[in-house]
Amino acid sequence: MNHTDTTTLIPDAAGLARAAALLARGDLVAFPTETVYGLGADARSGAAVARIFAAKDRPTFNPLIVHLADADAAREYVRWNDMAEVLARAFWPGPLTMVLPLRDGHGIAPLVTAGLDTLAVRVPAHPAARGLLRAFGGPLAAPSANPSGRISPTSAGHVLAGLNGRIAAVLDDGPCAVGLESTIVGLTGDAPVLLRPGGLAAERIEAALGRPLAQRAAAAALTAPGQMESHYAPAAPVRLNAQTANAGEVLLGFGPVTCDLNLSPSGDLQQAAAALFGHLHQLDAQGQPIAVSPIPDHGLGVAINDRLRRAAAPRGAQ
Ligand code: TXA
Ligand code: MG
Repeated sequence: MNHTDTTTLIPDAAGLARAAALLARGDLVAFPTETVYGLGADARSGAAVARIFAAKDRPTFNPLIVHLADADAAREYVRWNDMAEVLARAFWPGPLTMVLPLRDGHGIAPLVTAGLDTLAVRVPAHPAARGLLRAFGGPLAAPSANPSGRISPTSAGHVLAGLNGRIAAVLDDGPCAVGLESTIVGLTGDAPVLLRPGGLAAERIEAALGRPLAQRAAAAALTAPGQMESHYAPAAPVRLNAQTANAGEVLLGFGPVTCDLNLSPSGDLQQAAAALFGHLHQLDAQGQPIAVSPIPDHGLGVAINDRLRRAAAPRGAQ
């Protein structure tokens, strides 16, 4: 599908109705969530979902998260269990995705799950995302709204920089508050598994469940291909754990350091998470190699370090 230009909509009643109508006819609409902007398509339509992969140049074996209005809607598509109930009550709507077994007769297009018998479900908290899900009235498959392998978008401007002309519309509601993709927990076996660190700290999930999260086995790479190496990559090389910038580098700082851009001068991990992708986009535009200050590896710092390692990984690894 060729769109000469992508329409920017605001999430008032008319904008949401227009976005829902585009989705209903199989078009792609990018929308804000509290984590990052998502690229939405009707999850029940194979043709619509195929357009996501085409617009992003995404490998088709990488499954998508389905976004829903509430936990009741999620229960229509997956086999629910006690751990899912506890986590939904504690953290939905919010930056948590749960992977659960698909229910019989679910109606989700096979391309969404890449042939797996499990489905990733999430109820986003952002008012515009919730308004869109209500107006559309169905499940929305939505990866982050960026070309595959590039930095995730935390503003409508980022979405347009990567996908203008490749998608029908973007709902613009300003920057994303969390700034990191959702935390993904696998609930298909006896033990809950952390499949991807993200915008909800693993410690909080463990506290709610009253048990530790198992770490995803390295061999399970294909069940969570977002774990592939080079991902979230700026065009310029990235060097981690830098105390200072070398000649020619720009420094992305954390804490009270002299630098070009600072994730959080006061050393606040939540503020750093919200700023991460926007700062990477901005430094990437300067085209110089990027050095990054050390980030503490606890709470949201785990997900920040995960994304930074991918940004620094050798290119072509995905
Ligand atoms: O915050 C987010 O999660 C954002 C917003 C838009 O909701 N979405 C997002 O989607 O980050 P995406 O496609 O960039 O990442 C989805 C991740 C991938 O790593 C994928 O492999 C994993 O979810 N995933 C999806 N379905 C899965 C499944 N059935 N089993 C295991 N992993 C799955
Ligand atoms: Mg992504």
